Amino acid sequence: MKQILIVESSPRGAESASRQLTGKLTERLRALYPEAKFIEHDLSKDPPPHLDRLAVKAIAAKDPAEAESLKDVLRLSDQLADEVLSSDLLVIASPMWNFGMPSSLKAWIDHVVRAGKTFRYAGAGVEGLAQGKKAILVLASGGVFTEEPWKSWDTVEPYLRQILSFIGITDVQTVRAQGMNIPALAPHAISNGEKTIEALAL
Ligand SMILES: Cc1cc2nc3c(=O)[nH]c(=O)nc-3n(C[C@H](O)[C@H](O)[C@H](O)COP(=O)(O)O)c2cc1C
Repeated sequence: MKQILIVESSPRGAESASRQLTGKLTERLRALYPEAKFIEHDLSKDPPPHLDRLAVKAIAAKDPAEAESLKDVLRLSDQLADEVLSSDLLVIASPMWNFGMPSSLKAWIDHVVRAGKTFRYAGAGVEGLAQGKKAILVLASGGVFTEEPWKSWDTVEPYLRQILSFIGITDVQTVRAQGMNIPALAPHAISNGEKTIEALAL
């Protein structure tokens, strides 16, 4: 494992369940892979900008001269996508907000998932260009989403798995702190997540 990319998105600092679990996971990874380079992004402190008109134009540019004239617009996007491409493991941490992820994390995805960079059109289909990597999702929620009646309300884990598989990453494990807003479950939510971390295949 040469490079590990860690993407955090909760703004709740030390109170954040997803951050506490990501901290624990990072400790385990640092012990297992002392030589690895760790790249850490805190999207709540440093949110990537939403794609604007120029960014969309630059991403869609097919004419080489137009692409060249707009290449500076994609500097951050290139950096974020290159970090994914050069990492062996992605750790993506997300709180659940209104059954989805924070928009800062969605903005990061919009910079990373780009035709010709992390996927390409191949015949009638699509080929992911980030193959051979692993990902771990660290998810925190007020309710419980591993079973119905709320499982089908969760757009975080299904979407993240789908978009990662779109760019070629299918080896994905999930760690959860769930039930954070349910008094009977909250006291165990983080320790349950920690047990999952101890059992992860890393
Ligand atoms: C703006 C906002 C929206 C939330 N929406 C949901 C939700 O739709 N479903 C849920 O189960 N919990 C929801 N919660 C609770 C959080 O998922 C919970 O506090 C979780 O621990 C957040 O992750 P964090 O501790 O890493 O910040 C919401 C919290 C906030 C602040």
